[in-house]
Amino acid sequence: MTTQRITLTVNGMTHAIEVEPRRTLADTLRDQCGLTGTHLGCEHGVCGACTVIVDNQPVRSCLMFGIQAEGRSIRTVEGLADGATLSPLQQSFWDHHGLQCGFCTPGFLMLATWLLERETPIDEAELRHVLSSNLCRCTGYQNILKAVREAAKGLGKWVESAPA
Ligand code: FES
Ligand code: FES
Repeated sequence: MTTQRITLTVNGMTHAIEVEPRRTLADTLRDQCGLTGTHLGCEHGVCGACTVIVDNQPVRSCLMFGIQAEGRSIRTVEGLADGATLSPLQQSFWDHHGLQCGFCTPGFLMLATWLLERETPIDEAELRHVLSSNLCRCTGYQNILKAVREAAKGLGKWVESAPA
């Protein structure tokens, strides 16, 4: 078993680790960095449960090798809260019941964090388009949409859709 020594920067902290080149970023984060907030569902790029942010872009970490992430800036769900204070998006998920079992939640949170951090305003069509990439087996999606919508309003990012 060949391993490679790499350094990953995750949530602003460096992790000097040994990893097999065949291991995905998701596995590397979970097993080598101890960051088990990133979940694995389908493991082939369909469900979005493993979404993290790499160099300011949402990435399905089951489709990227850990060694490919060296030198990049990686953000995971563990980096969202400030100590015991939830991010506005996390708080909105809490307030609007945007989760049930929570398995899909880290992926939705990272995808929506990317959406809320973009310069461009968000309307209903864009919200639904972006979030449609991730799957949830519990909530029926409405409360997830509501949580992100209300967070966007609170951050001044929301625009009402133009009438048809
Ligand atoms: S576990 Fe990566 S997309 Fe499903
Ligand atoms: S809250 Fe259970 S899968 Fe989404």
